[in-house]
Amino acid sequence: MLPAALSSLRLPVIASPMLIASYPELVLAQCKAGIVGSFPALNARPDTQLEAWIVAIEAELAAHRERHPDAIVGPYAVNHIGHPSNARLDHDLRICLDHKVPVFITSLRAPPREVVEEVHAYGGLILHDVTTVRHAQKALEAGVDGLILVAAGAGGYAGTLSPFAFVSEVRAFYNGFIALSGAIASGASIAAARALGADCVYVGTRFLASKEANVTQRYKEAIVDAHAADIVYTDAFSGVHANYLRQSIEAAGMDPRALVRQSGASIDFAVSPDGAGLKEWRDIWGAGQGVGAIDEVLDAAQIVSRLEREYRAAIAQL
Ligand SMILES: Cc1cc2nc3c(=O)[nH]c(=O)nc-3n(C[C@H](O)[C@H](O)[C@H](O)COP(=O)(O)O)c2cc1C
Repeated sequence: MLPAALSSLRLPVIASPMLIASYPELVLAQCKAGIVGSFPALNARPDTQLEAWIVAIEAELAAHRERHPDAIVGPYAVNHIGHPSNARLDHDLRICLDHKVPVFITSLRAPPREVVEEVHAYGGLILHDVTTVRHAQKALEAGVDGLILVAAGAGGYAGTLSPFAFVSEVRAFYNGFIALSGAIASGASIAAARALGADCVYVGTRFLASKEANVTQRYKEAIVDAHAADIVYTDAFSGVHANYLRQSIEAAGMDPRALVRQSGASIDFAVSPDGAGLKEWRDIWGAGQGVGAIDEVLDAAQIVSRLEREYRAAIAQL
Protein backbone atom coordinates (compact mmCIF):
# COMPACT_ATOMS: atom_id res chain seq x y z
CA MET A 1 0.00 0.00 0.00
CA LEU A 2 1.59 3.25 -1.15
CA PRO A 3 0.99 6.53 0.67
CA ALA A 4 -0.17 9.23 -1.79
CA ALA A 5 3.17 11.09 -1.71
CA LEU A 6 4.95 7.96 -2.91
CA SER A 7 2.37 6.67 -5.38
CA SER A 8 3.55 8.60 -8.40
CA LEU A 9 7.28 7.98 -8.33
CA ARG A 10 9.01 6.98 -11.56
CA LEU A 11 10.34 3.90 -9.84
CA PRO A 12 9.51 2.48 -6.37
CA VAL A 13 12.80 3.72 -4.92
CA ILE A 14 13.70 5.83 -1.91
CA ALA A 15 17.35 6.90 -2.04
CA SER A 16 18.55 6.37 1.51
CA PRO A 17 20.22 9.07 3.62
CA MET A 18 23.98 8.67 3.95
CA LEU A 19 26.29 10.50 6.34
CA ILE A 20 28.81 12.62 4.44
CA ALA A 21 27.58 11.43 1.02
CA SER A 22 24.04 12.84 0.80
CA TYR A 23 24.31 16.59 0.26
CA PRO A 24 21.72 18.74 -1.54
CA GLU A 25 23.36 18.17 -4.93
CA LEU A 26 22.70 14.42 -4.69
CA VAL A 27 19.25 14.85 -3.12
CA LEU A 28 18.15 17.22 -5.90
CA ALA A 29 19.44 14.89 -8.61
CA GLN A 30 17.53 11.98 -7.03
CA CYS A 31 14.27 13.93 -6.74
CA LYS A 32 14.60 15.29 -10.29
CA ALA A 33 15.13 11.74 -11.52
CA GLY A 34 11.71 10.85 -10.10
CA ILE A 35 12.56 8.98 -6.91
CA VAL A 36 12.67 10.09 -3.26
CA GLY A 37 15.94 11.87 -2.43
CA SER A 38 17.10 12.13 1.17
CA PHE A 39 19.83 13.35 3.49
CA PRO A 40 20.63 12.97 7.19
CA ALA A 41 20.01 16.22 9.08
CA LEU A 42 23.47 15.70 10.60
CA ASN A 43 25.10 16.38 7.23
CA ALA A 44 24.08 20.03 7.45
CA ARG A 45 26.85 21.59 9.54
CA PRO A 46 26.73 23.59 11.70
CA ASP A 47 23.11 22.89 12.66
CA THR A 48 22.08 26.35 11.47
CA GLN A 49 22.78 25.11 7.92
CA LEU A 50 19.84 22.72 8.03
CA GLU A 51 17.26 25.44 7.48
CA ALA A 52 19.28 26.88 4.58
CA TRP A 53 19.50 23.42 2.96
CA ILE A 54 15.75 22.87 3.23
CA VAL A 55 14.93 26.31 1.82
CA ALA A 56 17.36 25.78 -1.08
CA ILE A 57 16.03 22.28 -1.88
CA GLU A 58 12.41 23.50 -1.78
CA ALA A 59 13.24 26.45 -4.05
CA GLU A 60 15.15 24.37 -6.60
CA LEU A 61 12.49 21.64 -6.76
CA ALA A 62 9.74 24.26 -7.20
CA ALA A 63 11.71 25.94 -10.00
CA HIS A 64 12.35 22.54 -11.63
CA ARG A 65 8.65 21.66 -11.50
CA GLU A 66 7.84 24.98 -13.12
CA ARG A 67 10.43 24.46 -15.87
CA HIS A 68 9.30 20.85 -16.46
CA PRO A 69 5.58 20.67 -15.66
CA ASP A 70 5.30 17.12 -17.04
CA ALA A 71 8.32 15.70 -15.21
CA ILE A 72 7.95 13.25 -12.34
CA VAL A 73 9.70 14.86 -9.39
CA GLY A 74 10.08 12.85 -6.19
CA PRO A 75 9.62 14.38 -2.73
CA TYR A 76 12.67 14.84 -0.50
CA ALA A 77 13.15 13.32 2.93
CA VAL A 78 15.21 14.30 5.95
CA ASN A 79 16.65 11.63 8.25
CA HIS A 80 16.85 11.97 12.03
CA ILE A 81 18.98 9.57 14.01
CA GLY A 82 17.60 8.86 17.49
CA HIS A 83 20.79 8.05 19.35
CA PRO A 84 21.99 9.43 22.71
CA SER A 85 25.04 10.95 21.01
CA ASN A 86 22.86 13.03 18.66
CA ALA A 87 22.58 16.26 20.65
CA ARG A 88 20.95 18.04 17.70
CA LEU A 89 17.89 15.81 17.44
CA ASP A 90 15.31 18.18 18.99
CA HIS A 91 16.64 21.16 17.06
CA ASP A 92 16.63 19.30 13.75
CA LEU A 93 13.13 17.88 14.24
CA ARG A 94 11.83 21.37 15.04
CA ILE A 95 13.31 22.91 11.89
CA CYS A 96 11.86 20.13 9.72
CA LEU A 97 8.44 20.40 11.34
CA ASP A 98 8.41 24.19 10.93
CA HIS A 99 9.27 23.81 7.24
CA LYS A 100 6.74 21.00 6.73
CA VAL A 101 9.34 18.66 5.26
CA PRO A 102 7.32 16.17 3.13
CA VAL A 103 8.96 12.96 4.37
CA PHE A 104 10.68 12.22 7.68
CA ILE A 105 12.88 9.14 8.00
CA THR A 106 13.70 8.26 11.59
CA SER A 107 16.40 5.75 12.54
CA LEU A 108 17.38 3.75 15.62
CA ARG A 109 14.94 5.02 18.28
CA ALA A 110 11.24 5.23 17.26
CA PRO A 111 9.99 8.83 16.97
CA PRO A 112 7.96 10.37 19.82
CA ARG A 113 4.20 10.33 19.24
CA GLU A 114 4.00 14.17 19.34
CA VAL A 115 6.39 14.37 16.39
CA VAL A 116 4.36 11.80 14.41
CA GLU A 117 1.17 13.75 15.13
CA GLU A 118 2.72 17.04 14.09
CA VAL A 119 3.96 15.58 10.80
CA HIS A 120 0.49 14.15 10.13
CA ALA A 121 -1.17 17.47 10.96
CA TYR A 122 0.35 19.08 7.84
CA GLY A 123 0.02 15.97 5.66
CA GLY A 124 3.65 14.81 5.88
CA LEU A 125 4.86 11.23 5.99
CA ILE A 126 7.01 9.62 8.63
CA LEU A 127 8.85 6.38 7.92
CA HIS A 128 10.97 4.54 10.46
CA ASP A 129 13.86 2.24 9.66
CA VAL A 130 14.28 -0.94 11.66
CA THR A 131 16.51 -3.99 11.72
CA THR A 132 14.35 -6.27 13.90
CA VAL A 133 10.72 -7.37 14.07
CA ARG A 134 10.47 -6.08 17.67
CA HIS A 135 11.54 -2.60 16.57
CA ALA A 136 9.05 -2.76 13.69
CA GLN A 137 6.27 -3.37 16.21
CA LYS A 138 7.46 -0.50 18.43
CA ALA A 139 7.56 1.90 15.47
CA LEU A 140 4.02 0.97 14.49
CA GLU A 141 2.90 1.64 18.08
CA ALA A 142 4.38 5.13 17.68
CA GLY A 143 2.04 5.64 14.69
CA VAL A 144 4.52 5.87 11.79
CA ASP A 145 3.22 5.67 8.19
CA GLY A 146 5.55 2.98 7.03
CA LEU A 147 8.52 0.79 7.83
CA ILE A 148 11.89 0.56 6.22
CA LEU A 149 13.18 -2.95 6.81
CA VAL A 150 16.96 -2.86 6.82
CA ALA A 151 17.99 -6.44 6.16
CA ALA A 152 21.39 -8.11 6.12
CA GLY A 153 24.03 -6.71 3.80
CA ALA A 154 22.87 -3.08 3.89
CA GLY A 155 25.41 -0.29 3.88
CA GLY A 156 25.92 1.59 7.12
CA TYR A 157 23.73 0.44 10.01
CA ALA A 158 22.43 -2.94 8.92
CA GLY A 159 20.52 -5.83 10.36
CA THR A 160 21.30 -9.50 10.20
CA LEU A 161 17.94 -10.84 9.02
CA SER A 162 17.46 -12.31 5.58
CA PRO A 163 15.07 -10.11 3.58
CA PHE A 164 12.93 -13.23 2.94
CA ALA A 165 12.47 -13.84 6.65
CA PHE A 166 12.12 -10.17 7.57
CA VAL A 167 9.44 -9.16 5.04
CA SER A 168 7.33 -12.26 5.58
CA GLU A 169 7.37 -11.93 9.38
CA VAL A 170 6.43 -8.25 9.27
CA ARG A 171 3.79 -8.83 6.58
CA ALA A 172 2.14 -11.34 8.92
CA PHE A 173 0.97 -8.49 11.19
CA TYR A 174 1.29 -5.36 9.02
CA ASN A 175 -0.26 -4.62 5.63
CA GLY A 176 0.89 -1.00 5.41
CA PHE A 177 3.83 0.53 3.56
CA ILE A 178 7.12 -1.38 3.57
CA ALA A 179 10.38 -0.33 1.94
CA LEU A 180 12.99 -3.08 1.84
CA SER A 181 16.65 -2.30 2.19
CA GLY A 182 19.95 -4.11 2.02
CA ALA A 183 22.29 -4.66 -0.94
CA ILE A 184 19.70 -3.51 -3.49
CA ALA A 185 21.79 -2.13 -6.33
CA SER A 186 20.09 -3.42 -9.49
CA GLY A 187 16.65 -3.28 -11.06
CA ALA A 188 16.28 -7.06 -10.71
CA SER A 189 16.64 -6.65 -6.94
CA ILE A 190 13.84 -4.04 -6.96
CA ALA A 191 11.60 -6.51 -8.78
CA ALA A 192 12.57 -9.21 -6.25
CA ALA A 193 11.70 -6.93 -3.34
CA ARG A 194 8.27 -6.25 -4.87
CA ALA A 195 7.75 -9.98 -5.38
CA LEU A 196 8.59 -10.53 -1.71
CA GLY A 197 5.82 -8.17 -0.66
CA ALA A 198 7.65 -4.86 -0.22
CA ASP A 199 6.09 -1.75 -1.79
CA CYS A 200 9.33 -0.01 -2.45
CA VAL A 201 13.09 -0.28 -1.94
CA TYR A 202 15.61 1.86 -0.07
CA VAL A 203 18.91 2.21 -1.89
CA GLY A 204 22.12 3.68 -0.49
CA THR A 205 25.41 2.20 -1.62
CA ARG A 206 24.52 2.35 -5.34
CA PHE A 207 24.40 6.17 -5.02
CA LEU A 208 27.83 6.37 -3.36
CA ALA A 209 29.21 5.68 -6.85
CA SER A 210 27.38 8.66 -8.33
CA LYS A 211 28.94 11.86 -9.65
CA GLU A 212 26.90 13.91 -7.16
CA ALA A 213 27.80 11.95 -3.99
CA ASN A 214 29.82 14.09 -1.60
CA VAL A 215 32.61 11.55 -1.15
CA THR A 216 36.14 11.38 -2.55
CA GLN A 217 36.90 9.90 -5.95
CA ARG A 218 38.96 7.21 -4.15
CA TYR A 219 35.88 6.15 -2.16
CA LYS A 220 33.76 5.99 -5.33
CA GLU A 221 36.39 3.91 -7.10
CA ALA A 222 36.70 1.59 -4.10
CA ILE A 223 32.92 0.97 -4.31
CA VAL A 224 33.25 0.09 -8.01
CA ASP A 225 36.18 -2.27 -7.31
CA ALA A 226 34.74 -4.00 -4.23
CA HIS A 227 32.80 -7.26 -3.90
CA ALA A 228 30.44 -8.49 -1.21
CA ALA A 229 33.31 -10.35 0.47
CA ASP A 230 35.01 -6.98 1.13
CA ILE A 231 32.22 -5.81 3.45
CA VAL A 232 32.98 -5.95 7.20
CA TYR A 233 30.12 -5.95 9.75
CA THR A 234 31.23 -4.45 13.06
CA ASP A 235 30.14 -2.28 15.98
CA ALA A 236 33.74 -1.18 16.59
CA PHE A 237 33.39 2.32 15.20
CA SER A 238 30.05 3.71 16.33
CA GLY A 239 28.83 1.18 18.88
CA VAL A 240 26.03 0.21 16.45
CA HIS A 241 26.64 -2.63 14.01
CA ALA A 242 27.29 -1.33 10.52
CA ASN A 243 28.87 -2.47 7.26
CA TYR A 244 32.14 -0.94 6.05
CA LEU A 245 34.63 -1.44 3.24
CA ARG A 246 37.52 -3.65 4.36
CA GLN A 247 40.01 -1.67 2.26
CA SER A 248 39.33 1.55 4.22
CA ILE A 249 39.81 -0.23 7.57
CA GLU A 250 43.14 -1.61 6.40
CA ALA A 251 44.17 1.79 5.00
CA ALA A 252 43.54 3.23 8.48
CA GLY A 253 46.08 0.72 9.85
CA MET A 254 43.60 -1.66 11.51
CA ASP A 255 43.09 -5.38 11.14
CA PRO A 256 39.46 -5.99 10.07
CA ARG A 257 39.53 -9.37 11.89
CA ALA A 258 40.64 -7.88 15.21
CA LEU A 259 38.40 -4.86 15.69
CA VAL A 260 37.43 -3.86 19.22
CA ARG A 261 34.37 -1.83 20.11
CA GLN A 262 35.36 1.66 21.31
CA SER A 263 33.87 2.96 24.53
CA GLY A 264 31.88 6.18 24.28
CA ALA A 265 31.37 5.59 20.57
CA SER A 266 29.22 8.04 18.67
CA ILE A 267 27.08 7.80 15.56
CA ASP A 268 28.24 11.26 14.63
CA PHE A 269 30.94 11.25 11.98
CA ALA A 270 32.50 14.44 13.34
CA VAL A 271 33.40 12.65 16.57
CA SER A 272 36.47 10.53 16.35
CA PRO A 273 35.95 6.98 17.67
CA ASP A 274 39.49 6.72 18.96
CA GLY A 275 39.82 10.27 20.20
CA ALA A 276 42.52 10.94 17.62
CA GLY A 277 42.30 12.03 14.01
CA LEU A 278 40.30 9.15 12.56
CA LYS A 279 36.74 9.96 11.60
CA GLU A 280 34.17 7.26 11.05
CA TRP A 281 32.37 7.56 7.67
CA ARG A 282 35.04 9.96 6.37
CA ASP A 283 38.03 7.62 6.76
CA ILE A 284 36.21 4.36 7.45
CA TRP A 285 33.92 3.96 4.48
CA GLY A 286 30.42 2.63 4.90
CA ALA A 287 29.15 0.33 2.12
CA GLY A 288 26.79 -2.59 1.69
CA GLN A 289 27.11 -6.00 0.06
CA GLY A 290 25.53 -4.64 -3.12
CA VAL A 291 28.95 -3.26 -4.14
CA GLY A 292 29.51 -6.25 -6.42
CA ALA A 293 26.67 -5.08 -8.68
CA ILE A 294 28.21 -1.61 -9.12
CA ASP A 295 30.61 -1.34 -12.03
CA GLU A 296 30.87 2.37 -12.78
CA VAL A 297 30.41 5.85 -11.38
CA LEU A 298 27.37 7.43 -13.06
CA ASP A 299 25.19 10.52 -12.66
CA ALA A 300 22.33 9.89 -10.23
CA ALA A 301 19.92 10.33 -13.18
CA GLN A 302 21.78 7.65 -15.15
CA ILE A 303 21.64 5.32 -12.16
CA VAL A 304 17.86 5.75 -11.95
CA SER A 305 17.46 5.19 -15.72
CA ARG A 306 19.55 2.04 -15.50
CA LEU A 307 17.61 0.75 -12.49
CA GLU A 308 14.38 1.39 -14.35
CA ARG A 309 15.56 -0.48 -17.47
CA GLU A 310 16.76 -3.43 -15.41
CA TYR A 311 13.56 -3.45 -13.33
CA ARG A 312 11.29 -3.57 -16.40
CA ALA A 313 13.49 -6.24 -18.02
CA ALA A 314 13.41 -8.39 -14.86
CA ILE A 315 9.63 -8.21 -14.67
CA ALA A 316 9.28 -9.00 -18.39
CA GLN A 317 11.63 -11.95 -18.01
CA LEU A 318 9.62 -13.36 -15.10
C1 LIG B 1 28.07 5.65 3.79
C2 LIG B 1 26.75 5.38 4.41
C3 LIG B 1 26.23 6.28 5.32
C4 LIG B 1 24.98 6.05 5.93
N1 LIG B 1 24.47 7.00 6.78
C5 LIG B 1 23.22 6.82 7.29
C6 LIG B 1 22.59 7.83 8.06
O1 LIG B 1 23.12 8.91 8.27
N2 LIG B 1 21.36 7.58 8.57
C7 LIG B 1 20.71 6.41 8.32
O2 LIG B 1 19.59 6.24 8.79
N3 LIG B 1 21.27 5.45 7.57
C8 LIG B 1 22.49 5.64 7.04
N4 LIG B 1 23.03 4.68 6.22
C9 LIG B 1 22.23 3.48 5.91
C10 LIG B 1 21.34 3.77 4.70
O3 LIG B 1 20.40 4.77 4.99
C11 LIG B 1 20.60 2.50 4.20
O4 LIG B 1 20.01 1.81 5.24
C12 LIG B 1 21.52 1.59 3.45
O5 LIG B 1 22.40 2.34 2.66
C13 LIG B 1 20.76 0.66 2.55
O6 LIG B 1 21.56 -0.39 2.11
P1 LIG B 1 22.49 -0.37 0.80
O7 LIG B 1 23.57 0.62 1.10
O8 LIG B 1 22.98 -1.75 0.73
O9 LIG B 1 21.66 0.08 -0.34
C14 LIG B 1 24.26 4.89 5.61
C15 LIG B 1 24.79 3.99 4.67
C16 LIG B 1 26.02 4.22 4.06
C17 LIG B 1 26.53 3.27 3.04
